[in-house]
Amino acid sequence: MESVFLLLLGGLLLPLAAGLLGGRLLLLLLPLACWGWWALNRPLELLRGPDEVGYIQERGRSRAQTANMVRRRRRTGELPPVYPNGWYQVLDSALLRPGALRNVSLCGEQLAVYRTLDGRVFAVDAYCPHLGANLAVGGRVVGDCIECPFHGWRFCGEDGRCTRIPYAEKVPEFAKTRTWPCCDINRMVFVWYHCDRTEPTWRIPEQEEITAEQWIYRGRTEHYVSAHIEEIPENAADIAHLAVLHEPSILSGGDICYTKSRIWDFFTHTWKVQWEPEAAPNKHCSQMSVQHASLIFGKHFSLLDVDVVARQVGPGIVFLHFSHAFLGRGIILHCVTPVEPLLQRVSHSIYYQKNIPAFIPKFILRAECIQFERDVMVWNNKKYISKPLLVKEDSAIQRHRRWYSQFYSANSPRLTFQEDGLSW
Ligand code: FES
Ligand SMILES: [Fe+2]
Repeated sequence: MESVFLLLLGGLLLPLAAGLLGGRLLLLLLPLACWGWWALNRPLELLRGPDEVGYIQERGRSRAQTANMVRRRRRTGELPPVYPNGWYQVLDSALLRPGALRNVSLCGEQLAVYRTLDGRVFAVDAYCPHLGANLAVGGRVVGDCIECPFHGWRFCGEDGRCTRIPYAEKVPEFAKTRTWPCCDINRMVFVWYHCDRTEPTWRIPEQEEITAEQWIYRGRTEHYVSAHIEEIPENAADIAHLAVLHEPSILSGGDICYTKSRIWDFFTHTWKVQWEPEAAPNKHCSQMSVQHASLIFGKHFSLLDVDVVARQVGPGIVFLHFSHAFLGRGIILHCVTPVEPLLQRVSHSIYYQKNIPAFIPKFILRAECIQFERDVMVWNNKKYISKPLLVKEDSAIQRHRRWYSQFYSANSPRLTFQEDGLSW
């Protein structure tokens, strides 16, 4: 639909331009038109650094210095364990071609993730148990194994056993590295973290429209949030914050110091939200249903009504299903991955019906990003309150905390002191 529309537009405009401007000028305009076409269709990539969003920059300090200061002086509160058990997204599948390997950070660990030539994905500890070289920096994929760049030891991705030491007569039994359960689904690579190293207890559902390419990739955003991981999903059960933080128009931006500006008063968002945990066997899932509407000069503008069902699967993955009366259906995969105890990498990737022009999902992703950055600003500066002062209308927050506690177990690591080195 989109291509047909643009072709028709081109077919009408180009002869018109040729008549009005002459052939030479048209030749000059053609590259511009091609660039416009490319810009309109290419996926949106919005990657924000850890200090770029969510802080009020202090006088005489750079953004990075401000972010470090805020992280140092912030009181953390009595935190739950810092790494919940579950699946976490570590890479987009497209970034891991056959034979490629990448270094990723997960739950305070460094992993080497690689894809064999026949397409399988493995994850092992990044540091070689021999003398500690990083396997993902200069290593190579050989069959199912990863070969260390330092002395050439090879480790099998399946069970971590060393299969070859190029200069030794015999490979000792104890020569092994740690492997991590991983999977490649919905065009993303996920790794399973469990503090007791137990095997996965649930699977990530496949989104068939993505696999079958009925919904296509239209872009992604990436942010770093300096907060405990649980603060992020808890937002879904914190219904009262929507009317304050997310009511001002997206035109007023993501910096909450400016969203109350009266210039944008004429345009507001309203939200109707409900959050519920799912029953067995999907106790690791919960659902938030959202009805979004927009008011322009106090009048309901139904073209901007969007229904969203946000299904949280485990501690760090949310499937945000969008449906709109005219603009079709699509999904944002929202993934939170703990990098350090109080540093989360959050990505939003959008897939949308093929026949809907790319600018529509790109706009939805932008709007989501603006709203999300408002939350980031709160999270980056807040304290975790373990015994919050709640009123009856906040009850979903307490229910969410009970639900989320299933992802912690007796040995889940805790942050016992505030490190001085919480800088990046
Ligand atoms: S450090 Fe890896 S083989 Fe020696
Ligand atoms: Fe929010």
